[in-house]
Amino acid sequence: MQASNNNSQPVILGIESSCDDTSAAVLKEGKIHSNVVNTQEIHKIYGGVVPEMASRKHQQNIIPVVDTALKKAGIGIQDVDAIACTQGPGLLGSLLVGYTFTKGLALSLNKPIVNVDHISAHIYAHFIEHNPSFPFLCLLVSGGHTQIVSVQENYELEVLGSTLDDAAGEAFDKAGKLLGLPYPAGPEIDKLAKQGNPLAFAFNTPNTKDLSFSFSGVKTSILYTLQKLTQKDNDFIENNISDLCASIQHTIVSYLISKLRMALQQTGVKSVGIAGGVAANSYLRQQLAQLADEMNVEAYIPKFEYCTDNAAMIAFAGGIAYHRNEFGTLTDTCFTRK
Ligand code: KG4
Ligand code: ZN
Repeated sequence: MQASNNNSQPVILGIESSCDDTSAAVLKEGKIHSNVVNTQEIHKIYGGVVPEMASRKHQQNIIPVVDTALKKAGIGIQDVDAIACTQGPGLLGSLLVGYTFTKGLALSLNKPIVNVDHISAHIYAHFIEHNPSFPFLCLLVSGGHTQIVSVQENYELEVLGSTLDDAAGEAFDKAGKLLGLPYPAGPEIDKLAKQGNPLAFAFNTPNTKDLSFSFSGVKTSILYTLQKLTQKDNDFIENNISDLCASIQHTIVSYLISKLRMALQQTGVKSVGIAGGVAANSYLRQQLAQLADEMNVEAYIPKFEYCTDNAAMIAFAGGIAYHRNEFGTLTDTCFTRK
């Protein structure tokens, strides 16, 4: 495989298949020229991602998605300088589809592979369209991860705090399941909360030290509250769905923001952002803007399609690794956890 990293503006094909979105994107001249995402709807009826079904769907989707991404970018596969692919973390069967496809493609084209860490890519999504100053603090909130990360000069990442159990997105999804909402429940809760009172119900906020997070207690607190209230009134959830959603969202978001405030106070960093699927949450976006005002710092949020799982962030992260001369090999393997 030829790694021609003397190219300062490489054309990178990005491929993402870590969970239930099959995605391909093209980075060219430092800009994203296409970002095709096929979200697998099949999991909705099961209340969560069914790993084996996800792998099968990725297999069906991967070639058409890559093909569309190349066409939309107006390039042929031979124009690509390197193929960047999510190596992990994620579901093994899902990762293997994108990763093995990438290896086969790279081998047949004699092009280099770039291994991309999915979590880092969510953070780098900030730099696709914006130019935050370094050091930059990022609250990464996805379905699988919750972390506060400091991004240093040259895109070096330092994790300042992580969740001890569930991720913020999981907390939204599990709360939604208790309310009978379809998966993923985060966007549903966000929508329903708009008509509700955020202070209607009080749920326990987890008490974690420093910049660590914990969400398992929130879920238990919601479960007990709902059990008590539905005992007296069978239709309680249905009749109070907006208030319940607004209060759950308020609990999770206030907790996230309190940790971000603590991180800003501890580090004195002047630019801050949120990334990952939960960064699409309208209340979190609004609260981030307020926090930035209060702390006199610059706030950044990647555009919506770069918050949820997408290959644009993989291609962009691939570009960073390309410049560092960091290439994968055909014997590398995927990883499910960090
Ligand atoms: O980053 P992502 O697309 O996939 C992972 O890498 O996990 O994040 C998915 C998570 C799900 O838990 C989903 O419920 C949550 O992001 N999410 C939201 C919203 N949109 C997506 N959570 C709250 N409000 C939203 N608007
Ligand atoms: Zn993700």
